[in-house]
Amino acid sequence: MASEMTRPVLLYACAGVDTAAWLEALRCELPQVELRVWPDAGNLADIQFAFVWRYPPGMLARLPKLRAIFSLGAGVESILRDPELPREVPLVRMVDPALAIGMNEFVLMCVLHYHRQMDVHAENQRQRTWSRLVPPLPQDRRVGILGLGELGGLCAGTLVKHGFDVAGWSRTARAIEGVHTFAGVEQLPEFLRRTEILVCLLPLTPSTENIINNATLAHLPRGAYFINVARGQHVVDADLIAALDSGQLAAATLDVFREEPLPAEHPFWVHRRITVAPHIAAITQVKTAARTLAANLNRCLAGDAPANVVDRRRGY
Ligand SMILES: NC(=O)c1ccc[n+]([C@@H]2O[C@H](COP(=O)([O-])OP(=O)(O)OC[C@H]3O[C@@H](n4cnc5c(N)ncnc54)[C@H](OP(=O)(O)O)[C@@H]3O)[C@@H](O)[C@H]2O)c1
Repeated sequence: MASEMTRPVLLYACAGVDTAAWLEALRCELPQVELRVWPDAGNLADIQFAFVWRYPPGMLARLPKLRAIFSLGAGVESILRDPELPREVPLVRMVDPALAIGMNEFVLMCVLHYHRQMDVHAENQRQRTWSRLVPPLPQDRRVGILGLGELGGLCAGTLVKHGFDVAGWSRTARAIEGVHTFAGVEQLPEFLRRTEILVCLLPLTPSTENIINNATLAHLPRGAYFINVARGQHVVDADLIAALDSGQLAAATLDVFREEPLPAEHPFWVHRRITVAPHIAAITQVKTAARTLAANLNRCLAGDAPANVVDRRRGY
């Protein structure tokens, strides 16, 4: 009975995910923890930790003993929008090996697709045109990654290994072997001017919202490609369509959208030069993610600070 009283209490409040699978994995990884599922939270003053995704805003403010908040997703912008998010409680983002593997595969696939002009071959097929195009060598293909964090940094390294001429842009200066790095708004135009295939892997913050717009797209060389695997709000939709229609962009692959699911009437669905993917570039896998979360929660229980804490001032 005494040990039952001292078990740490974790509140699970996640919508839009496979809750049964998550609960099974968490019970397996965290047998020492009492798991409560929102809204059956019991006495709110017992709760020390919360695992959240699409939870009711204001909920966390009602937990007076909360020690850490763990996001089930990599992007935390929706949690940061909670006006009552407790200020002093660390917010931890998801860093999951399966997420990284998925993103790495997806970005490599899209870059190779455009590098080998498969978009042109698909159009030629529709026209019954047999045209043997010679692609440039990868060292002559300039790929640029917006964001050099967990995911962008990994993708940049993979593209370097495949022989591409890779550049990356971040907020603060970064050094990644084989990657030309650019930092800050003042170096963004130079980075864009050398980028034939642009990949967006930025977090969504007030400084990165709408970053893909008429002005930034105009810096790219004519006929560039764009791959968005970050957030839909990074892109001004009308500007992207205008760039595709004018030939400034040759094609785009979009995995994320301002509104998801992408509404049936949205022009992206039917645009010849746009490939739509339903936010599947990297999907959190319950087993690996539960293991990562459990390891991080165990750090807290051992009295250490959790890893991957969001910097509230930076917004990611
Ligand atoms: N489509 C999907 O399935 C999917 C799956 C997972 C994640 N995502 C998205 O991918 C995003 C990136 O994830 P991550 O784990 O790689 O993030 P991260 O580790 O936090 O890295 C973010 C990178 O963006 C840079 N950055 C942030 N603000 C910037 C600014 N104002 N100007 C220039 N660079 C800026 C950072 O610069 P510093 O290096 O200087 O800090 C850092 O290099 C997530 O936020 C999420 O939205 C999408």
